[in-house]
Amino acid sequence: MLAVELVDIWKRFPGVVANAGATLGVRSGSVHAVLGENGAGKSTLMNVLAGVYQPDEGSVVLNGEPQRFASPADAIACGVGMVHQEFRLIPTFTVTENVVLGAAPTRLDRGSLRAQVGELAERFGLLTDPGRPVWQLSMGERQRVEILKALWRDASVLILDEPTAVLTPGEAVELGRVTRAMADDGRSVIFISHKLDEVTAFCDEATVMRGGATVAASLPVGELDASRLAELMVGQATAVSQRRQRAAQVDGEQSPALVVRDLRVRDVHGRAVVDDVSLDVRPGEIVGIAGVAGNGQRPLADAIAGLSPAEHGQVVVADADLSTASPAARSAAGLSYVPEDRLGVGLAPRLDAVENAVMRSYRRFARRRIVDRAASRAHTEGLIDRYRVKVARMDAPLAGLSGGNLQRLLVGRELDEKPTVVVAAQPTRGLDVQGVAAIQQILLDQSAAGVAVLLISEDLDELLALSDRLLVMHGGAVVASFDPDDADRTAIGAAMAGAVSTEGVS
Ligand SMILES: Nc1ncnc2c1ncn2[C@@H]1O[C@H](COP(=O)(O)OP(=O)(O)OP(=O)(O)O)[C@@H](O)[C@H]1O
Ligand SMILES: [Mg+2]
Repeated sequence: MLAVELVDIWKRFPGVVANAGATLGVRSGSVHAVLGENGAGKSTLMNVLAGVYQPDEGSVVLNGEPQRFASPADAIACGVGMVHQEFRLIPTFTVTENVVLGAAPTRLDRGSLRAQVGELAERFGLLTDPGRPVWQLSMGERQRVEILKALWRDASVLILDEPTAVLTPGEAVELGRVTRAMADDGRSVIFISHKLDEVTAFCDEATVMRGGATVAASLPVGELDASRLAELMVGQATAVSQRRQRAAQVDGEQSPALVVRDLRVRDVHGRAVVDDVSLDVRPGEIVGIAGVAGNGQRPLADAIAGLSPAEHGQVVVADADLSTASPAARSAAGLSYVPEDRLGVGLAPRLDAVENAVMRSYRRFARRRIVDRAASRAHTEGLIDRYRVKVARMDAPLAGLSGGNLQRLLVGRELDEKPTVVVAAQPTRGLDVQGVAAIQQILLDQSAAGVAVLLISEDLDELLALSDRLLVMHGGAVVASFDPDDADRTAIGAAMAGAVSTEGVS
């Protein structure tokens, strides 16, 4: 029997039909992939299954029983748990507090709760420290907390919405094991991803969506290949984008556009999360930073952008020392930042598309201190067009946009300012094949136009294809430097794991 059946689901939002007759059937004890390009309606369908949205039409059937969920609590009571694309944890609470929130047996004290959460984590191989506050955790660890939350409520159906988008390759493989362990335990896992190799490695069957509808249901993953998948997802036979090899165009004589010297950042515990990092990026150069998540990439990027204070060290953009400048002053000096946390520091979910698009450049649209709505709207329309953002309504809060569309808007806004230096953290995370290719091309075009790009990514293929130079961070420090043209993946992997000395790295 099917654990989950979604039959002919319709869901409309103002100006957009997000689900238009979508169907899905998931066997118990299996891992089922849901694929589709950005905006295809995957998250919406999953939100219907998880009780976040009520469908306009169609039915949700669990183990043969029709269900009507008025809220996520109803869905959880029936064993459906969901880990959303954007996490929903309480940062100041500990791992344990987040996991048991609203579902703690009253007879247990804090110590035993913590122990039980620890046991559950161990059982499924979800490494975490139950006593730590969530705000201190990396994205990968936060995801494990979200999964634990669902398992704590004994979810028999677990929905993971683009789970690997926030994971390193190693963590992704680990998650593959976790989902298999859950399936072997008789549960069903629904796994949304844009990456075919993960789908083939971790999943049993795949359902493909396009334009809100299901275009291929429950295909055995063995029958999927990249071109067939692309055809299903975009409705035509398109070649899957090839990784572009860039032409060498960096003038080694030019002085660097971005100079970082001896930058050190400490976390609240006094640990040096960025440990005397020095690096240069020349105009037209793409310098990649590889590393396992949580090794200082994010605090490094935040410190370069001025979002977190450095203990010591220098940040220089086009010969201007910005070491103590505010984020706004850095941005005015030509530094653009695409942060990995798109709805935290990147975009404001409660504001609309226009407000988000001009939030960095609103002075240009101001007349006597009042922002000219028509002019900023026209600017936004141009941006949306150039970066192909699908926005149904310009005056609705951004929160409703799909993950990929949020990313396009963010990247577009930052790059449209004609920056001297771009710091891009995970800029293609969560994008579909075409979205990835589009953003990568934009970065290549930027560097061809002389912009210095610092690219932080957990996708080694992306780094190797785009970078002129590849640095590896481990334990807050830059521990190795590679030439991507004759890079040895094993050596890069070893550096990422911390198996090299820091000697001789410039
Ligand atoms: N709450 C909402 N309000 C308005 N429009 C919405 C809302 N949620 C989704 N949409 C729209 O519905 C469509 C489908 O979005 P959905 O998030 O389901 O896509 P997706 O397949 O998950 O895409 P991605 O791969 O980018 O995450 C998009 O056009 C999106 O903008
Ligand atoms: Mg989505």
